[in-house]
Amino acid sequence: MSAPATVAQVSADKISILNHQQYDAPDTLSPSTVLPSPLDQFRAWFTSVQGHVHEPEAMAVSTATPDGLPSTRIVLFKQLDSRGFVFYTNYTSRKSKELEANPRASLAFYWREVHRSVRVVGRAEKVSKEESEEYFRSRPLGSRLSAWASRQSSVIQDGDVQKKMKELEQKFGIKEGQQDADIPLPDFWGGWRILPDEVEFWGGKPSRAHDRVRYLRVEGSSDDTPEWKIDRLSP
Ligand SMILES: Cc1cc2nc3c(=O)[nH]c(=O)nc-3n(C[C@H](O)[C@H](O)[C@H](O)COP(=O)(O)O)c2cc1C
Repeated sequence: MSAPATVAQVSADKISILNHQQYDAPDTLSPSTVLPSPLDQFRAWFTSVQGHVHEPEAMAVSTATPDGLPSTRIVLFKQLDSRGFVFYTNYTSRKSKELEANPRASLAFYWREVHRSVRVVGRAEKVSKEESEEYFRSRPLGSRLSAWASRQSSVIQDGDVQKKMKELEQKFGIKEGQQDADIPLPDFWGGWRILPDEVEFWGGKPSRAHDRVRYLRVEGSSDDTPEWKIDRLSP
């Protein structure tokens, strides 16, 4: 793997980054030219980065406990529908516990190759069991088994997951080399949908004079047909 070196000064007690790259996104963003819905704008951006950006579906998800202790991790964005952004995870994980207790989240995408970023802030709801089932069935056999094998975010010992995978292969009668099997959706696993109240599109520009366009959902407008106020933000 090779990447341009970041110029950094590293000593025993400090890391200092001495320079950064310049950004120059391929287009100019303006409240007057973006699409009226941030979901349509996201769809347009996501379509245009296909084939240009490595893993554009990787996103940071931030959650917080009810008293405001935040935590962030990377997950894979799986679907955009008319209500919002969906990802899948274990419902006993730290993030899920935080979302149960405080159903708000923030997402961030960074598409380095095109100098673009998107932030979504909104409310979280679980997707329906039918949707989770449909997605679960589409996962490769190994991923379905490892969903069963993991009590995500709990403390375990070396080798526990591999041991559990072997037990599950026996339980579900899976033979060596078998590619598929009927594995049910675990009741502790499924999707979360983030319904946006705020979506910001960021395009990097030279000398840090970046473009930022923010959509705010007009209070009282419905989740199915929201209205949006669109503004330019200072970089
Ligand atoms: C590129 C990448 C993709 C990931 N995708 C997922 C995912 O879709 N769902 C998931 O639960 N964890 C995913 N993870 C693992 C999470 O980052 C995290 O370790 C895990 O969900 C537990 O987080 P939590 O303890 O904060 O709940 C991914 C990690 C990386 C680096």
